Amino acid sequence: MRRRDFLLGSAATAGVMGAACWGGARSTVQQLTIQTARFSFREQPTDGLVSLLPDAPPPVLYGTQGDPMHLRVVNGTEDYTAMHWHGLRIANAMDGVPYLTQMPIAGGEAFDYEFTPPDAGTYWYHPHCMTMAQMAHGLTGVMVIREAEDPGFDGDQVINLRDFRLDGNGGFLPYYTARGAARGGTHGNVLTANWLQAPVYDHPAGGLVRLRVVNSDTTRIYKLHLSTGQARIIAWDGHPVEIDLPLPSIDEPLLIGPGQRVDFAVRMPASEGQTADLLAELPGQPTRTMAQLRSVGGGLGRDLRDLKPLAANPASRPDLSSAEMLDFVFGWTPEGGPPNDGYCGSLGYSFWSINRTPWAGDAAKGTGPLATLKRGKSYVLRLRNESPNLHPIHLHGLAFIPIRSNLRRLPPLVTDTMLLLKDEVAEIALVADNPGDWAFHCHVIEHQKTGLAGYIRVT
Ligand code: C2O
Ligand code: CU
Ligand code: CU
Repeated sequence: MRRRDFLLGSAATAGVMGAACWGGARSTVQQLTIQTARFSFREQPTDGLVSLLPDAPPPVLYGTQGDPMHLRVVNGTEDYTAMHWHGLRIANAMDGVPYLTQMPIAGGEAFDYEFTPPDAGTYWYHPHCMTMAQMAHGLTGVMVIREAEDPGFDGDQVINLRDFRLDGNGGFLPYYTARGAARGGTHGNVLTANWLQAPVYDHPAGGLVRLRVVNSDTTRIYKLHLSTGQARIIAWDGHPVEIDLPLPSIDEPLLIGPGQRVDFAVRMPASEGQTADLLAELPGQPTRTMAQLRSVGGGLGRDLRDLKPLAANPASRPDLSSAEMLDFVFGWTPEGGPPNDGYCGSLGYSFWSINRTPWAGDAAKGTGPLATLKRGKSYVLRLRNESPNLHPIHLHGLAFIPIRSNLRRLPPLVTDTMLLLKDEVAEIALVADNPGDWAFHCHVIEHQKTGLAGYIRVT
């Protein structure tokens, strides 16, 4: 066992700081302090990787649909930061995007985020300032918004998939390369689930477990499947799935890009000690076990058919007959160093663009919205990928439904992130029902931070 201090890890202490009255309901303040964490590593000589045994990965934050939350983010580091709540459709001022919705939080300062999650499901949080450095060092946490009515699972398991880029001594490698940023991104070499290698979690034998898988990686597109056929996909990017989706398999694994989430209902094996495994396919490698659910206890004898479908979230459904079409092109940009007018960190390159315009830096002075949408109206956004790389395109503040692609049939899922394939042209539909300036970017952070970003205004 070795221990290393890192420049910037994360830890959060959740504590009741008092009660606030807000919107007529009471919410307690949870304090989240961003601070240096200490992790211990153990060599795994079998495959040359190191295993991460953290003292403090970012905690899973819990809220309830329709209940106010008050999160006080305290910046205990020397760098600036801002916290974003990925997938939550909340007021723009609480969205955590520096210069667009708030000023960056300086070291020693705090920002109070107060919102009421309208939707239940699996969401997550990460900084949107010093995004590359802070996320690469582990500041990516899961947020579970519980249904107002308990859907009746016997267990709940969060799996936060994260790579780290470490050298042989347990220190960090540079968290991106220019070569990677200009192509598919720079991948980590230590793949973890909840900062652990192939952790095992106990759940009641024969019970029904909600397995919440979150890809909070900065780069990797995971190809996932399960070792059991006793499972069903029940939610996608937070929102309940209303259609029957095929279970992924080794031949047709589920592609889940950075920022995306999938919830499975898993029926635990009947006998004690048996496992249901979350598996990943990696290029040129044997199937890898990311995490295991292990049956314990006497056996509950539940059946997947016992589950009622999850109630739909209250996202408005677009009216395609009246929708206006808007075009967005994701491509390269002439190389150059963008101006960085802010405090939120630049990678020093500009490789990417949306509609030929690279995001010009943190403060992005003089960069206007990519489009202005009228509140309450329906739109179809046509997303064209002009590059040979995949881009998980994420829109803040609004939910959308993929409707059409030139390459594949898209299931009509309610989502916040669209994984655009090589040369894909995909159409997504939405209702512009949340006013504000909403960040719109690729969730491969190296792409986001080298130009593949912008924002959409809803007035
Ligand atoms: Cu996960 Cu701009 O966000
Ligand atoms: Cu987001
Ligand atoms: Cu990208």
